[in-house]
Amino acid sequence: MIEGRAARAVYPGSFDPPTNGHLDVIERSARCFGEVVVAVVVNPQKHSPMFTLEERNAMLLECVKHLSNVRVEHFRGLLADYVKKIEANVIVKGLRVVSDFESEMSTALMNRALSDVDTLFLMADQKYSFVSSSMVKEVFFLGGDVAALVPAPVLRVMSAKRTVSRSSS
Ligand code: PNS
Repeated sequence: MIEGRAARAVYPGSFDPPTNGHLDVIERSARCFGEVVVAVVVNPQKHSPMFTLEERNAMLLECVKHLSNVRVEHFRGLLADYVKKIEANVIVKGLRVVSDFESEMSTALMNRALSDVDTLFLMADQKYSFVSSSMVKEVFFLGGDVAALVPAPVLRVMSAKRTVSRSSS
């Protein structure tokens, strides 16, 4: 664990839904930092979320309940403002493939310019390098098996949503 200045890390994301790749980054961050705040963005810029904020929060809470130094929060607006508000020392991001680095690099530089907080990158475990929330949703709602790609609480919520969407169509 890093003592002192780097004690509080923020791991931001849409988590629509959380995947095993996200959980792997959270677990590894929890071993590095005194406290990890998993920060769910309320309105992702790239897409309208399939899961409500309440669902994303609840899924994450279930997934991290074995980690005593991890808490789940949500934020609106700029990540840099949120990071300053909660006095975090570092932003954590996962990198799956080299192409992730291109956008993450400029985002990290922007966030540092706005907040003076650095971003530290963890390489995703190679067994999750192809796993993204968007692909998990597509595969699942087209009938594919994603049990190995998402934590069990997430699979339960996804299955319930699929049942509701089938019965209402
Ligand atoms: O899981 P995602 O969708 O890759 O997460 C993206 C997220 C939430 C980290 C990013 O969109 C974000 O930080 N949004 C907050 C708005 C913001 O600060 N934008 C400026 C970053 S340059």
